[in-house]
Amino acid sequence: MTPDLMEEGARRASAYAQHAERNRTESGGRAAGFSRPVVPGEVDTAHGRILYLEDVNVSFDGFQAIKGLSLDIAPGELRCIIGPNGAGKTTMMDIITGKTRPDSGTVFFGSTIDLLRYKEADIAQMGIGRKFQKPTVFEMLTVYENLELALKTDKGVKASVFFQPDSEASDRLAQVLHTIHLADSVNQLAGTLSHGQKQWLEIGMLLMQDPKLLLLDEPVAGMTDEETARTAELFLTLKGQHSLMVVEHDMSFIRTISEKVTVLHEGSVLAEGTLDQVQANERVIEVYLGR
Ligand SMILES: Nc1ncnc2c1ncn2[C@@H]1O[C@H](COP(=O)(O)OP(=O)(O)OP(=O)(O)O)[C@@H](O)[C@H]1O
Ligand SMILES: [Mg+2]
Repeated sequence: MTPDLMEEGARRASAYAQHAERNRTESGGRAAGFSRPVVPGEVDTAHGRILYLEDVNVSFDGFQAIKGLSLDIAPGELRCIIGPNGAGKTTMMDIITGKTRPDSGTVFFGSTIDLLRYKEADIAQMGIGRKFQKPTVFEMLTVYENLELALKTDKGVKASVFFQPDSEASDRLAQVLHTIHLADSVNQLAGTLSHGQKQWLEIGMLLMQDPKLLLLDEPVAGMTDEETARTAELFLTLKGQHSLMVVEHDMSFIRTISEKVTVLHEGSVLAEGTLDQVQANERVIEVYLGR
């Protein structure tokens, strides 16, 4: 979720509670629309890359967490990132999303957008969605309201408590509900969903903005086997329409979804290839898989 969205959600949940207190009706009422879906600017992928990192370096208090990191991702690709704890996987996502500024290096979105020139909120608006490990849905709002809220990204627009989605937004909402397998739980409070369902809802909130690139950090951690299998299906559905970067330690999950796998170690790429190729790599066995 974006920082903007989290702030907005907290604000809306509290406005909602106040409104409900003041104005107890069954109909819910209606107020002016406050939002349109964001139409992210075009990303130039003519060179076959949606994301491009070259020789990126980051140190924290003298400790080099990212060291000469270079990698690129093709449009529509589902890239899996694996590697031991502390390898720099989350830090890499922090850099792509503008949360951490590297000391040096190049980070491009498509061939024209230099991500290092933008702030975190702008990068999210451009079409890079990020899912943190812990689900951060708004528990006191329903599934529907959470998704509806995700459409609200226009800054400076005076938010009202209710809004009437236009038909394009309604279609998108219905489609996303179906994609994330929550169509039957549309009026359920998010707080009552299972851990896996909350994760899907948060992915759904990202999808409402139709991101070009989705970064997912340990998405199946804490999920049941069945939820993990459903998440694999979900990612395979998303691939092609979106580019995905998935960080996971769950190897059987990786095996189900992976095409190309990148192994990070000590802040740089140790190996890249199919899962079979990297699993057969001596260095990878030594530092990660063979432990
Ligand atoms: N803001 C920070 N300040 C200081 N050190 C940091 C910071 N962020 C990350 N690090 C360090 O950088 C290294 C890489 O951390 P990172 O969280 O990116 O690893 P990871 O590959 O995501 O590991 P895991 O699989 O455990 O999630 C670690 O040694 C971590 O302690
Ligand atoms: Mg991490």
